[in-house]
Amino acid sequence: MQKVDDAQAQIEFDRRVADEQKIEPTDWMPDDYRKNLIRQMSQHAHSEVIGMQPEGNWITRAPSLRRKAILLAKVQDEGGHGLYLYSATETLGITRSEMIEALQTRKAKYASIFNYPTLNWADIGAVGWLVDGAAIVNQIALQRTSYGPYSRAMIRICKEESFHQRQGYELIYAMAKGSPEQKEMAQDALNRFWWPSLMMFGPHDSDSAHSAKSMQWKIKRETNDVLRQRFIDQTVPQIEVLGLEMPDPEIKWNEEKGQYDSGEINWQEFYEVINGNGPCNHQRIKHHLKAHKDGEWVREAVRAYAEKQQAKKAANVA
Ligand SMILES: [Fe+2]
Ligand SMILES: [Fe+2]
Repeated sequence: MQKVDDAQAQIEFDRRVADEQKIEPTDWMPDDYRKNLIRQMSQHAHSEVIGMQPEGNWITRAPSLRRKAILLAKVQDEGGHGLYLYSATETLGITRSEMIEALQTRKAKYASIFNYPTLNWADIGAVGWLVDGAAIVNQIALQRTSYGPYSRAMIRICKEESFHQRQGYELIYAMAKGSPEQKEMAQDALNRFWWPSLMMFGPHDSDSAHSAKSMQWKIKRETNDVLRQRFIDQTVPQIEVLGLEMPDPEIKWNEEKGQYDSGEINWQEFYEVINGNGPCNHQRIKHHLKAHKDGEWVREAVRAYAEKQQAKKAANVA
């Protein structure tokens, strides 16, 4: 009997997805759809939170009060995105502590870009400009994702991401137009962050394990390669405005295609970093573990308060 119900529910689910309707937490959904969403959304949440580390590292060293205030606000936003996305993922029947455990035991991944170090102040510009720039391209497409809570989270988050991208570009612009030393720092930051930013879109479509199913379910709305090309096409003219050299000598306008050609990503590096062997993987998780342990007293206090409230309520009822 259950089988027939599921088959019918599946038909209804497929019809709604085809019809561009949102799937909500209490709706029936295929197990694999749920699993796929949990993987993608929790990975997204982890990326927001781990991404606070390379930038947070520079808050105390920002060169002016204005830059410090901007960076502080930006890093705080990322923490908010993480919390928002953890909550959205919990609607699928997984707890926040299960997700954190998967991150800390390295079962869950996060964006590989955050395993690269931020070596100088220009890197903070490059992160905002390129990393948040790449994230926006991805997240704008995700505003139309089929799962309601994820889609609504993306709409909200994108508004803040555009500020992140703008502040990064404004920072790198100031340096690219500054002293020769500053310009050199900007160029160096661009050279180092360019390729890892392109890797943020994931493997080629032909090599992407989760892509086809996610596209069919409209969890993903555009493929890795389409999104990556869009990012390249919007960023190359910005490099020209900055007066910096292209980080990839193969970048060239292709009149026929109406887009830029570019060189091949070093996929071996991509898989090395994804599999835990990037420059900062170990440091990022170690820091997360420490921060999590240091925050235990907050969780204890929240639990104690909730118990007290419950006891009060019970006493009132009695
Ligand atoms: Fe974010
Ligand atoms: Fe951001």
